[in-house]
Amino acid sequence: MTHLRFALIGAGRIGQVHARTIAAHPAATLTLVCDPVVAAAESVAGTYGARACTDAADVFAAEDVDAVVIGSPTPLHVEHILAAVSAGKPALCEKPVAMQLADAEELQRRLAELDDVPVMLGFNRRFDPSFARARALVEEGAIGPLEQLTIISRDPAAPPKAYLAQSGGIFKDMTIHDFDTARFFLGDVAEVSATGQHLDPELADSGDYDGAVIVLRSASGAAATIINSRHCATGYDQRLEAFGPQGAILADNQRPTTLQVSTREASDAKAPYLDFFLERYADAYRDELTAFIDALTQGHPVSPTIADGVEALRIAEAAGESARTGATVRL
Ligand SMILES: NC(=O)c1ccc[n+]([C@@H]2O[C@H](COP(=O)([O-])OP(=O)(O)OC[C@H]3O[C@@H](n4cnc5c(N)ncnc54)[C@H](O)[C@@H]3O)[C@@H](O)[C@H]2O)c1
Repeated sequence: MTHLRFALIGAGRIGQVHARTIAAHPAATLTLVCDPVVAAAESVAGTYGARACTDAADVFAAEDVDAVVIGSPTPLHVEHILAAVSAGKPALCEKPVAMQLADAEELQRRLAELDDVPVMLGFNRRFDPSFARARALVEEGAIGPLEQLTIISRDPAAPPKAYLAQSGGIFKDMTIHDFDTARFFLGDVAEVSATGQHLDPELADSGDYDGAVIVLRSASGAAATIINSRHCATGYDQRLEAFGPQGAILADNQRPTTLQVSTREASDAKAPYLDFFLERYADAYRDELTAFIDALTQGHPVSPTIADGVEALRIAEAAGESARTGATVRL
């Protein structure tokens, strides 16, 4: 197939990003947009000349839909992936794959019994040009065997409380990206130890951690340290360092310009970091969906897969257990 007709399920923050990429891609058309909030479905559909619907069943039954992008809330991912695959429609689904590891593993079992329809998981950071280049350099041996990976990932501010309530908690919602990035660099993870923090008074009644520090060890002995916060006064803080015996590779924060301003008050002051995930990872979201389209139109396997989603969720649940008990969890 050389041209794909897409449906979008969930026309919220991330769905709108994917709609834009689909509409701009020469091998793709956005045909149908589904969201139970009629205004949301109609607004995105209207922008790109697509039809709107409010029931995902209409997407799976539509004859003019070849593939779907799932940007619905996390508790609906398993149901939407299964329905897409049962209808023979390849799917790109947002992270995390499910709220619970057991549900993700059950999904994996069910998918194995169905026809082999490609399902890709939205770990967009694998497609960030800087992270992807850093990983390629590590694979090429530029710094020797990887010994330590440090990931700093802090949000400028917490998401709305309604979003948090159905997010699965910080490890499954936020750190899941970093768990996948760690696996991308380190391979399989053998040990997890985590500390969760309750420091933000605004999130005190959320029942969730608002900060976390996690250490992962791979089977080879390499370690990844992940540092998260739901609030960061300096903005969306996204850094990564890979360290080995022959050197280090740093992916630093990105800014809209490279200007450095020196005045009486400050020397070498730079513009603030790119605002939040929609800006910082704009290239990654585009390249992720482009990779999905390329895989489908050229007949390559998709990556990352549901299995990657399951493994990241396994680490997330282990991190939750470690933060609760204070013990290191072996996988
Ligand atoms: N990869 C990333 O960087 C990234 C960033 C943000 C969100 N996400 C993930 O994307 C998903 C959505 O997050 P969001 O921030 O866009 O949330 P959102 O609340 O902005 O959007 C979700 C949309 O789904 C709609 N929806 C609810 N029930 C539905 C149903 N049955 N069928 C179709 N649509 C339905 C809602 O009305 C809403 O418009 C979450 O799983 C989240 O973890 C990923």
